[in-house]
Amino acid sequence: MARASTRSTPAQTPPQAPKTPAARQRIDEEHRQLGDLLHALARCHDPERALERLTALASLLREHFAHEEAADGLHALVGEGAAHRLPNLQRLFEEHREVLAAVASMEERLRNLVDGPWAALREEMRALDATLRRHERDEDALFSEAFYIDIGGRSS
Ligand SMILES: [Fe+2]
Repeated sequence: MARASTRSTPAQTPPQAPKTPAARQRIDEEHRQLGDLLHALARCHDPERALERLTALASLLREHFAHEEAADGLHALVGEGAAHRLPNLQRLFEEHREVLAAVASMEERLRNLVDGPWAALREEMRALDATLRRHERDEDALFSEAFYIDIGGRSS
């Protein structure tokens, strides 16, 4: 019969994962928020809601890019001691400007749409709503008149 081992093993502690720097955690959280906002924006069919989301996106992007370009941002996370990465980092920072310009352009065009043609169409739709409600009331009045007065009068 095999004997159970009586030899005790020292408690195994899992190796500690390197602590993620706070700046990296913040950037990751902002990437998550940006992803959620972009997902919602890309599926939005309402111009007014799209404008709200695009404005929120522009604000978050400005804040996020400022964090990434700060002294404790991406420079500190990837640039330190790795000069060969700096050109790539610089290219990403330049792309920040391009993205902000593209978002600003979309925001301006969407605002022009919302305040211009979309506002005019909404006004027309409200007027159509009022016209059709009045139209149906007029029809009801005509039917009532025909039923209670003309037909009723004839049958009496
Ligand atoms: Fe980023």
